[in-house]
Amino acid sequence: MTVTRNEFPADFAWGTATASYQVEGAVAEDGRTPSIWDTFVRIPGTVADGTVGDVAADHYHRFAGDVALMSELGVNAYRFSISWSRVLRPDGEPNPAGIDFYRRLLTAVVERGITPYATLYHWDLPQHLEDAGGWLSRDTADAFVRYVETAVGALGDLVGNWITLNEPWCSAFLGYASGHHAPGRRLGSESSHAVHHLLLAHGLAVAAIRRLQPDARLGISLNLYSIRPASDSAQDQDAARRIDGLQNRLFLEPVLQGHYPADVLADLGEQEWFADQPSADLEAINAPIDFLGINYYSRHTATAGTWDGSPSANPGSEFVEFVDTGAPKTQMGWPVHPDGIVDVLRQAGSYAPGLPLMITENGAAYPDQSGPDGFDDVERCDYIEQHIAACRDAVRDGLPLVGYFVWSLIDNFEWGWGFSRRFGIVHVDYESQQRTVKTSGRWYAAFLAGGN
Ligand code: FCB
Repeated sequence: MTVTRNEFPADFAWGTATASYQVEGAVAEDGRTPSIWDTFVRIPGTVADGTVGDVAADHYHRFAGDVALMSELGVNAYRFSISWSRVLRPDGEPNPAGIDFYRRLLTAVVERGITPYATLYHWDLPQHLEDAGGWLSRDTADAFVRYVETAVGALGDLVGNWITLNEPWCSAFLGYASGHHAPGRRLGSESSHAVHHLLLAHGLAVAAIRRLQPDARLGISLNLYSIRPASDSAQDQDAARRIDGLQNRLFLEPVLQGHYPADVLADLGEQEWFADQPSADLEAINAPIDFLGINYYSRHTATAGTWDGSPSANPGSEFVEFVDTGAPKTQMGWPVHPDGIVDVLRQAGSYAPGLPLMITENGAAYPDQSGPDGFDDVERCDYIEQHIAACRDAVRDGLPLVGYFVWSLIDNFEWGWGFSRRFGIVHVDYESQQRTVKTSGRWYAAFLAGGN
C-alpha cells in the first residue's frame, strides 16, 4: 500500500457515505410523501436508463445487513441522509413511522460503535414545497428550519454530527439552471436565488440546532473542484476565475466569511437581487460551524469556448468549456486528479484557518464486471488509494483534515444516470438485492485494519 492508516491521526473519521433517495427505496411506505425526485424521475427522458428510485438498494428494509457490512469493513463513521418527506408530513406534523426508521437505523449504527453523520438535505425536497416555489422561495428556508427542528428533536440523542446541506451548487444549478436534476427547471441566472435561499436555510438551521443540541458538531458539505486555466491567456484565466467563482467561492465565501464574491454576482448579472436581500441574511449564513465537509471528485481545466444556447449549469458563464488534458477518466467522464483534493482543502482552509475539514465524499464510477474473483474493481481501488494518499499529503502539510468518507458504501441510484453508474465499494445485484464486497471494499477494510 502506498498509504497506511497510521499516517493519519488516531481519531480520524473513516467512513462511507450514502443518501436517502439513492439507497432507501420504500418511497410510499410508512407515510413518506413524494419528493421532487419521485416526480422528476417519472418525466420521460430525465434519467439515462429510464429507471426510478422506488426500490433502489432497498436499504429501508435491509439497513441492518448494510450496517453489519460497514462493521465488517471496519469503518468508524457513517454518513447518510434523512428524507425530509419521511419525517415531516405536508401538514407540518411529524411522521412517527418515518422517524422510527431513522431511530432503528441509528441505533444499529451506534451499537456497532460507528459514529453517525446525518445529512439533513441531500436534494429530496418534499414536492409540495416545490409546488409552493421550491428553493426560489425564501419560505423554503423557514420550512427547512421547522423540519430540522423535528429531526434534531427526534434523533439528537443518537446523532452528534449534523450536515445541513449536501452540495447546494447541485441543488441550485443542476436543479434550476440546467434542469439535469429535480425539479428540472431552466431559469438561467435566476437559479442563483436558490443559492441564497439554500445558504440561508443552512445558516438558520445551524442556529436552530445550536439551540436544541448545544454540544452537536455542525457542518455543510460543498462540492468543490480543483480549477486550472487551460493556458496563461487572459481568456482562459478569466474562464478559470468564473468557474472557481460559481462552483467554489460562491459557497465558501458567504458560509465562511459572510459575503458573496462580487465578481460572481456580476458574472451572473444578479447584483441587484442580492443587494435587495435583508442584510441579516449573510450574518445568518456565516453562522460558525464546527467542520466543513468537502465532496471532491475531480479537477476542471477551463478555457473560453462558445455557447450553443442550451441550458447550462454555469449560468452567466455558459461559454466556459472544460478541456481534456489527457488525464485518465472515470465512467462519469470525470478526470482523475488525486492531487486536486489537496488544492480544494488548501483553498477551503484559506477562508477559515484552523476550521476542521472533512472529505465527506470521494469515489468513482467504473463499469464493474464480475469475474472468478467477484468484482475486481482495480480502477476504483486505485482511485480511492491515490486520493487517500493525497489526503495523507494534506495532513503532512498541516491542513486540519479530520475525516474521509468513500462515496459510496453500496451501489445505488445515481440521479440522472439511474442504475447505469455504480460507485459502491460493495456491489448490489438489483434483482436479488444481494450485496457483494468488491476488491475496493476489501482494500478499504485492509487499509482500515492496518493501523491504529
Ligand atoms: C455527488 C452526490 C452524491 C453522488 C456522487 C457521485 O455529487 O452528492 O449523491 O451522486 O456525487
